[in-house]
Amino acid sequence: MSGHGEAIVMVARRGGALSGVAEVPGDKSISHRALILGALSVGETRVTGLLEGQDVLDTAKAMRAFGAEVVRQGPGAWLVRGVGVGGLAEPSQVIDCGNSGTGARLIMGCMATSPITATFTGDASLRKRPMGRVTEPLALFGAEAYGRRGGRLPMTVVGAADPVPVRYTTPIPSAQVKSAVLLAGLNAPGETVVIEREPTRDHSERMLRGFGAEVSVEDVPEGRLIRLVGQPELRPQVVAVPRDPSSAAFPVCAALIVPDSDIFVPGISQNPTRNGLFTTLVEMGADIAFENPRTEGGEPVADLRVKFSALRGVEVPPARAASMIDEYPVLAAVAACAEGRTVMRGVRELRVKESDRIDAMARGLEACGVRVEEDEDTLIVHGMGPGGVPGGATCASHIDHRIAMAFLVLGLASRRPVTVDDGSPIATSFPAFEALMAGLGADIRRAMP
Ligand code: S3P
Repeated sequence: MSGHGEAIVMVARRGGALSGVAEVPGDKSISHRALILGALSVGETRVTGLLEGQDVLDTAKAMRAFGAEVVRQGPGAWLVRGVGVGGLAEPSQVIDCGNSGTGARLIMGCMATSPITATFTGDASLRKRPMGRVTEPLALFGAEAYGRRGGRLPMTVVGAADPVPVRYTTPIPSAQVKSAVLLAGLNAPGETVVIEREPTRDHSERMLRGFGAEVSVEDVPEGRLIRLVGQPELRPQVVAVPRDPSSAAFPVCAALIVPDSDIFVPGISQNPTRNGLFTTLVEMGADIAFENPRTEGGEPVADLRVKFSALRGVEVPPARAASMIDEYPVLAAVAACAEGRTVMRGVRELRVKESDRIDAMARGLEACGVRVEEDEDTLIVHGMGPGGVPGGATCASHIDHRIAMAFLVLGLASRRPVTVDDGSPIATSFPAFEALMAGLGADIRRAMP
């Protein structure tokens, strides 16, 4: 199954140890937000280290359609000339967010309190994903949404001409929902309040503050309460995007399961709302040193030194899910190479990501000879120990970059090669994945047609 264009069949084989430096690209979540907030500021925002993956390029194109000037000046270096809060123009074409749920949901949020109408669509994966989770709170501001059955794209959002501020408790842990409400609150008068029961990634709150919005966060008995004062004048910023911990997860996990590996992964965010995978890996016995802790681009970062490790299965606490929600696929691959069971509970949100990630990992792992158990909210992987995974299967990526990369990582430590039916979605978040892994000595190749 391919998103747009040709499928790219890829094969990963067991080979020598991985070594060297893995400089992973800019953070995807922060890159989307830098473009969107730049577009909502008055003046020139300069971004360095922007992730130039297809998801973010689609957001750049969308913000142009809403009237902002978005210009690439060099590798990762972008200039955004914003139109100001309340200054978005009505797009004259359909907004195609490609594979990106973050792009679609955040952009819907930021236009929902302006008197304009926009129609959103995306690839076959995004068109299956639920948008009701954002259009429900956006309706409280006065916006209307007309989509396909089940709140699916394509969908037209009619922004509120006279928006009112909103107080909203998110029913699911979702940074996209929280961020859509906060972005909508920017153009509503008065104070918009979002309460989340469990903390999710807080890049929107951090960056809104950086752009000059009044945002306060407090812990209350119901959870984390975020207050935003509407109709600020956002000031343009210089944004240095830190490297993406969710992309770092792939070389890090590969080094842990390929014998004798030793790699260095500089500048990885240690933001507590994003670092659940590293906590889990350390509990599994991973040899990861967190060196030179510092702040970069407003985020706590560290350099990681990662060595091959004999891992044991663990129970991942459900409360940790939000801080590693995108890392479960690669954790499942690592768990297959550990001794004993790894239990991942409280993970039902994985079913509505770029693919149903519980199902995609379970079927692919089974095909590779690994025993798994699952229910609606749980994935359990029975580890086969270092060198124990048979492999020798073709796994479906389901238009999901992280599923594709997770199975390629598994193939590096399996007895027989692992094939992925379509690696083309990797370009949505990590276009340099193949080159970076090859630089570490990994044997990942495109299969000849
Ligand atoms: C993201 C939030 C998460 C995550 C996604 C990026 C964001 O989604 O899975 O890759 O940038 O806000 P949910 O908010 O749906 O959990």
